[in-house]
Amino acid sequence: MRRIEAVDRSIVKIFFDGQLIEAYEGDSVAAALLSTGMKSIRDTAVTATPRGPFCMMGVCFDCLVEIDGLPNRQACMIQVYDGMVVERQSGAAAIASDSPSHNKQSTGKQSSGKT
Ligand code: FES
Repeated sequence: MRRIEAVDRSIVKIFFDGQLIEAYEGDSVAAALLSTGMKSIRDTAVTATPRGPFCMMGVCFDCLVEIDGLPNRQACMIQVYDGMVVERQSGAAAIASDSPSHNKQSTGKQSSGKT
């Protein structure tokens, strides 16, 4: 995949699975990875089918990656920055039990009331 026109922005360096990638400041992680010709950036949880960014607007969740150690990040919704470390996400990532979203869900289940 190539860019339509030259851009006048700073170059930032990110790493994807240890591979150095040059991106433009302001690029989303997904755009930066797609611009290298990469098509797959994660594997599905059940069948390990390769997936890549599809909607590029935060809807399909086919772009989930690990960024700087945090899983389940939508590559299409996050801008690159110099030194960012991105890893392919394989399968379903665990959600930390002390995360605010996990606690909110747990609270909701407890209050749904089958007592
Ligand atoms: S490409 Fe669809 S949510 Fe990121």
